[in-house]
Amino acid sequence: MDKILVLDFGGQYDQLIARRIRALHVFAEIKAYNRITPAEISAAGYRGIVFTGGPNSVYAENAPRIDSAVLSLGIPILGICYGHQLLCFLAGGTVAPSEKGSEYGKTELTVKPGVLFRDVPETSVVWMSHTDAVAAPPVGFTVIASTEKCPVAAVCDEDRRLFGVQFHPEVTHSVCGETVLRNFLFGVCGCGTDWQLDDVIEQTISEYRWRLDGKRVLLALSGGVDSAVAAVLLHRAVGDRLVCVFVDHGMMRKNEGDFVEHTFSQGFGIKLVRVNAAERFFKELKGVTDPEQKRKIIGEAFIRVFEREAKKLGKNEVLAQGTIYPDVVESGKGDAAVIKSHHNVGGLPEQMGFSQIAEPLRDFFKDEVREIGEKLGLPKALVWRQPFPGPGLGVRVIGEVTPEKVAMLQEADAIFREELEAATLPQQANQYFAALTDTKSVGVMGDARAYGYVLALRAVSTDDFMTAAWTRLPYDLLERVSSRITNEVPGITRVVYDITSKPPATVEWE
Ligand code: XMP
Repeated sequence: MDKILVLDFGGQYDQLIARRIRALHVFAEIKAYNRITPAEISAAGYRGIVFTGGPNSVYAENAPRIDSAVLSLGIPILGICYGHQLLCFLAGGTVAPSEKGSEYGKTELTVKPGVLFRDVPETSVVWMSHTDAVAAPPVGFTVIASTEKCPVAAVCDEDRRLFGVQFHPEVTHSVCGETVLRNFLFGVCGCGTDWQLDDVIEQTISEYRWRLDGKRVLLALSGGVDSAVAAVLLHRAVGDRLVCVFVDHGMMRKNEGDFVEHTFSQGFGIKLVRVNAAERFFKELKGVTDPEQKRKIIGEAFIRVFEREAKKLGKNEVLAQGTIYPDVVESGKGDAAVIKSHHNVGGLPEQMGFSQIAEPLRDFFKDEVREIGEKLGLPKALVWRQPFPGPGLGVRVIGEVTPEKVAMLQEADAIFREELEAATLPQQANQYFAALTDTKSVGVMGDARAYGYVLALRAVSTDDFMTAAWTRLPYDLLERVSSRITNEVPGITRVVYDITSKPPATVEWE
C-alpha cells in the first residue's frame, strides 16, 4: 500500500494533515521529527513526505530540524508553514522575520501554473499563520506563489520534487487546499488510492485471525466507541474466543448499562460478562468529595474488579484494547498522557499475565473508527456517542457521590437529552449533559416549602473539545427542560444553565 510520512515538527495540525490525506484514500502516518532518521525513512518505502508546521523559528535554539540528507532521498517532499521554511533552510535558502509583519487568517494567494497548482485559480483565499518567512529561496528553487505580505508563499524544485507552501492547505479556509494536497499525492508522488476502509477492515480482521490463532482474548468494554468497535472487529476475527467484561460501576447514564449489554450480547452474540459492581464503587466513594480523589478511587476500583473477573474466567492469553491512532501518536511524542484513562483499561497492571496485547484500532483516527463501527453494524447511538468521562456520573455529581444522587442525576440528564434531541437548535450542540451540584436551595412545591438540589445544564459547541463555546439554546427549550425536571425529579428544586466557555471553564464540572 502506498503511504505518506507526515513528519511532525510540533505544529498543531499534524493529525489534521494525516486525516486529510487519508480522506483522499492514501495511507498517512505521523512520526515525530526526532524519532526517525533519513535512512529509516528511505527503508520504509514512503511515496512522499510532508513536513508539518511548528511554532518555532528555524534559527531558534533547539528548533526542531531533521538531517538535510532527507532532501536527497529522491522522495518528494511538501513543506507546510514551518515545514516550508525548514525545507528552504535545509536546502540553503534563508528565513527571516517577515518584512511586512506577521500574516494571520484568510489571505489572497496568487499562484503560477505548475504541477502543485494544477486546477488552482490564479488567485484564491488561503489560511496563513506565520511570523517568519522565506527571505531568499534556495538555489534551484522557483517561487510559485505570493501574497501581499509574503513574496515567497510557495516554492518548488520540480526536478527534485521538493515543494514548500507557507499557507495551510489542510485547513478548510484554504479554498484550494484539497486540490494542492491532491496534486502532491497523485501528480507528484504518484500514489494510488488504496486506503479504502472496506478493504482495510477485511485486512485487519484477517490479520488478527492469524495473529490470535487459537488464543483466548479478553477485552474490557466500556460502552464507549473505541472499545465497542474493537470488540466487534475482534469478534469477527476470533469468534467465541473473545470474552468481553463490562464493569458496570453504577454511574453510567440512564439505561446505558442495559443498552451496552443488549447490543453486544444479544445483537452481536458476543460472550459478555456484565459485572454489576455499583455497590463496591459507592462504598469506596462514601464521604469522598475531592474530584481527583474520586477519579482515582473509581479508576483503581475498576482495575481491581476487572482483575478479579479476569481471574475467574481462567487463562486468557491476550488483552485487547481500544487504543486508537491519536493515542499512538501522542505516545510517540513522549508525552505523559500516553494511555487513556481506565475506561479502556490502559492502566491495567502488567502482572495480570497476558502474553500479548491486541490493539486492532491503533492505525485509525476517531472518525475512521466511527465509520468502521457503522460498517460493522453498530447502532448509531453508540457510534456517534458523545464523549463520556471514564468515571461517568461520578464526576457529574459534585461532592460526595451516593446512589440516590446518581439516580436523581440520571433522570434529570435523560430529560435534558430527550428534550434537546427533539428540538430544532440554532447552533449544533456537540456535548450536552446535566451535573448535580452539591448546593441546596429553597423552593415551593405545591403550597409547601421544598429544599432540594440545584441542577446545572451544560451544552457546548466545539470541534475538538480542547476549546468550547457554550451553546445558545433557545429559551423555550430551557424552560421546558427546567419545568419537566423540577416536576418529574423529586429532590431537585432549581435548574440553572451553565454559560461558561472553555477556557476558562472545562467542559466537565469536575
Ligand atoms: P474537560 O472537562 O477537560 O473535558 O474540558 C474535555 C472532554 O473530555 C471529556 N472527559 C473525559 N473523557 N475520560 C474521558 O475519556 C475522562 O476521565 C474524561 N474527563 C473529561 C469531557 O467529557 C469532554 O468531552
